[in-house]
Amino acid sequence: MRPHERPAPAPLKGGYDVDENAIRFSNYFHVLRELVHLTCGWLPLVPRFEDKLALGEHLHDDARAVTKVKRRLYELRHPSDYPGAPGAELTTLLDAMNAAGKPQEYLDVAYGQVKPALARAIRTHLDALDPVIDEPSLRLLQQVLARQDRHGLEIAHAPDGAPPGFADLGALEIRLREERPLTVMAPLVEPARDAFVEVTADGDPYLTDELYVNGDENHVPLAPEEQHHFFHGLMDAELSAAELMARNSHEHPEMPWDFHVDMARQTWDEVRHAKVHDILMRTELGCAWGDHPVGFAYFRSIYAYDLLGRLVLFNGTSEQKAMWRHSHRRKVLLEQGQDMVAMVFDYLLADEVPHVHNGVRWGSYLLGGDEAAYREKVRELRGDLDRTGKPVAR
Ligand SMILES: [Fe+2]
Ligand SMILES: [Fe+2]
Ligand SMILES: [Fe+2]
Repeated sequence: MRPHERPAPAPLKGGYDVDENAIRFSNYFHVLRELVHLTCGWLPLVPRFEDKLALGEHLHDDARAVTKVKRRLYELRHPSDYPGAPGAELTTLLDAMNAAGKPQEYLDVAYGQVKPALARAIRTHLDALDPVIDEPSLRLLQQVLARQDRHGLEIAHAPDGAPPGFADLGALEIRLREERPLTVMAPLVEPARDAFVEVTADGDPYLTDELYVNGDENHVPLAPEEQHHFFHGLMDAELSAAELMARNSHEHPEMPWDFHVDMARQTWDEVRHAKVHDILMRTELGCAWGDHPVGFAYFRSIYAYDLLGRLVLFNGTSEQKAMWRHSHRRKVLLEQGQDMVAMVFDYLLADEVPHVHNGVRWGSYLLGGDEAAYREKVRELRGDLDRTGKPVAR
């Protein structure tokens, strides 16, 4: 083929100029950052297990979207990857999302107004942009839009409808060199569970210390009845883990963005683990979520610490020690021919590795980047624990 015989390309379209494009991404940044922040705040208070599961997953999607939007803003030569403050109209919408007083009110605004307005703006953006000149935006926005559309189907909420003036959220003004601080919700008293789950002060009395100690005294439950209680308690513990990580993120907006991405990932992992146990109970073990009472004593004892204490005691100790038990349980269950249950522990073990690392990474960060100081803090605070790893000092 000679050069002039190549098929003619479609003409370029032009689309938005670079500044307009950066303003659009700045608006998306504010919407997505605040969705991550508030979803982390509300996730523990949402009672339905299915909603917690969906929120954990959407949170992880949206946190990664913020990372990519920040990156695109940097590429578009904005003064920095922090894009100024939202203008008056977007501020009104974000304030409405912050004003929710009940979990369903939050879901109604976030999923009935904010996410649909974001999806509409991205559709407008995708229609107008030049898919060749601005292919990086095309790829990013296609991915974010598909996820927002899916999120809207996965959580029950009031019918879609943003307040007037939100035909195109991407075109709203941005106040450069200003900042929008994030508002932190009141401290958690305790997480919420499905209405059919009984919450008691002591949780399930069937669960004994021997299930949670490491070494020779560890007991791996094998009889059907003890497995019913054990996996039910494990499902609840996974939810509590997700809720702790979500609140770590929500309560510490001053932390670097990557911290929030790590917390979002672990929140998603922990709700996924709860989902695995839910399915395992109903398909392999013949029991179900809600069969036994749950309690929040462990959650409260960790939540009472500051961020460093929570990272040391939960990620650096509880999760770290759970690795030995998961591996031991897997081995014993394989010997008993419970292959599927053993497989679950194989993956729980694998997922604990990054969870323990989250403690090292962000605990060291809080100690001025000093990993040795973090290890020392782990040794110090472990003195506060009983033999099952539960803090007793506070
Ligand atoms: Fe887990
Ligand atoms: Fe764990
Ligand atoms: Fe974990």
